[in-house]
Amino acid sequence: MYTQALSIPDEGRSVKPIHPKESPQQIQAFEDRIAADGRIEPQDWMPEAYRKTLVRQISQHAHSEIVGMLPEGNWISRAPSLKRKAILIAKVQDEAGHGQYLYSAAETLGTARSDMLDALHSGKAKYSSIFNYPTLSWADVGVIGWLVDGAAIMNQIPLCRCSYGPYARAMIRVCKEESFHQRQGYESLLAMMQGTQSQRDMVQDAVNRWWWKCLAMFGPPDTDSAHSEQSMRWGIKRISNDELRQKFVDATVPQAKVLGVSLPDPHLKWNEARGHYDFGDIDWDEFWQTVNGHGPCNRERLATRVKAHAQGQWVRDAALAYAQKQERKLQQEAA
Ligand SMILES: [Fe+2]
Ligand SMILES: [Fe+2]
Repeated sequence: MYTQALSIPDEGRSVKPIHPKESPQQIQAFEDRIAADGRIEPQDWMPEAYRKTLVRQISQHAHSEIVGMLPEGNWISRAPSLKRKAILIAKVQDEAGHGQYLYSAAETLGTARSDMLDALHSGKAKYSSIFNYPTLSWADVGVIGWLVDGAAIMNQIPLCRCSYGPYARAMIRVCKEESFHQRQGYESLLAMMQGTQSQRDMVQDAVNRWWWKCLAMFGPPDTDSAHSEQSMRWGIKRISNDELRQKFVDATVPQAKVLGVSLPDPHLKWNEARGHYDFGDIDWDEFWQTVNGHGPCNRERLATRVKAHAQGQWVRDAALAYAQKQERKLQQEAA
């Protein structure tokens, strides 16, 4: 979901722009291919810094998909109808699938999945800070679909043209599924807005709590975005944080009108000269607090994830034992 990932280093890791052993010819050939909008594939030569940047971004993206299952997963057992429960289960399963495609894409760069998971579970790796907020009512599930998945689509569509082939291809399928997520969220809010006053109030309250956090999902302003410029040159990132944020605001304001909710920003207004909506200032202190581990649910999310991983150990052991058994069988047949 999450251009934020491009701008924020994991703890204790920094990427040097040029590796001492890289020849200018190799770098030139690589840059020429990117300039011609070609794709880089796993077997191709690539600068070490490009590889490391991609591993960081794709693994942060994968972690975000997996941790992103938790806030909504909380509501599966409390969904108001069988239909809503089935939709929500399907959506949360999609997010698990997104995590799997992305871990696989990162593995093609030579990083073991177990190392990526260790980095997540030890708190070294980052994931999107949006998932460190609680889901207080059923309306939060709809608002997450509409706004959080909506922001994710805005971020991810340009990644379908990312210069690294496996990442770009994974994103094509992810984007199709995100589009379903956005629509199911919006549709569930439309149903609530046609219900009772207390249902409408619940939707408005959820919008009030999530709106600013969704704007922060696009990452720090372009002027403070640590890795953006290099990523743009490498064709990993195609559109800047601020441009994406503006696109999101412009697309969402008319949807809020149709829904019948207000957006909690007194400065939000159409600017005829710019041809865009103006909006107020984002609270970046709160964003950084949450990114750095002090949001309302950081500890709870990580603890839940670590526990789920530990509880799944027997499944991984069984799968491994089965694969080894099959391998032995094949070897015996070949002998
Ligand atoms: Fe997703
Ligand atoms: Fe999604």
